[in-house]
Amino acid sequence: MQDTESPTAEPTVETHAPLTWHAGDMPYSPAFSDHFYCREDGRAECGHVFLAGNGLPERWQAPRPFAIGELGFGTGLNFCETLRQWRLTKVTGASLSFTSFERYPMTTEEIGRALSRWPEIDRERQELVACWPATPSGHVTLTFADDVTLTVVCGDVLETLPAWQAPMDAWYLDGFAPSRNPAMWSIETLTRVHDRTRRGGRFGTYAAAGFVRRNLQAAGFAVERRKGYAGKREMLCGERPSSPPLVVD
Ligand SMILES: C[S@@+](CC[C@H](N)C(=O)[O-])C[C@H]1O[C@@H](n2cnc3c(N)ncnc32)[C@H](O)[C@@H]1O
Repeated sequence: MQDTESPTAEPTVETHAPLTWHAGDMPYSPAFSDHFYCREDGRAECGHVFLAGNGLPERWQAPRPFAIGELGFGTGLNFCETLRQWRLTKVTGASLSFTSFERYPMTTEEIGRALSRWPEIDRERQELVACWPATPSGHVTLTFADDVTLTVVCGDVLETLPAWQAPMDAWYLDGFAPSRNPAMWSIETLTRVHDRTRRGGRFGTYAAAGFVRRNLQAAGFAVERRKGYAGKREMLCGERPSSPPLVVD
């Protein structure tokens, strides 16, 4: 008989969080009491908050590698919409690496179901589900046509981000509402994001909470408030300044 009280027993690490579904194809996380994207139109919100907030597609129109980091891969909606826009606008010689940090990777079936509401990204959805592993773990690296590489770093971002070295040109901060998942918006996490941002690199997020703005500023970002998507009063975006602040003794 197994002794579950044994002090030497390894704690079980949950790698999948059950979902419920609203309106047939809209996933909801009971664990975080939140939706994965806005109920009006998550794809359009992605364009407004994450692409425009990061100055995209304009900033990737140069013949060089461009790196996007994301906190929270979820359904892969942001990746698929980014891939769609990349394909419409990339220039010769450019390549895209999209790296997303995800604690609870979804199954292939869940991703396919969640993305099926957008015919605009049908090609990208089909490509993603065709190569998504049955049991994602560690670093999942997938390649796509048009010089795109997706890496999903599985695990808690508090553990995986410190070990990540490569700097990003743009960050999508998408870790559920700050009130429901404060660890994703803590000064520790956002300092790590800042330190893994190239000088002149940017971030975008739908979050507008005061503590998030203050943590982003304390981490070193120049933070800008913009109008949010679909009637939301505000969103945040900003830049890691090109030169470090002057220190006056
Ligand atoms: C709002 S959803 C992301 C939506 C996603 N970007 C999309 O395109 O569908 C937030 C994601 O953050 C993940 N998450 C929450 N806490 C996390 C943590 N500590 N480390 C890594 N991922 C986490 C959740 O599992 C969830 O998939």
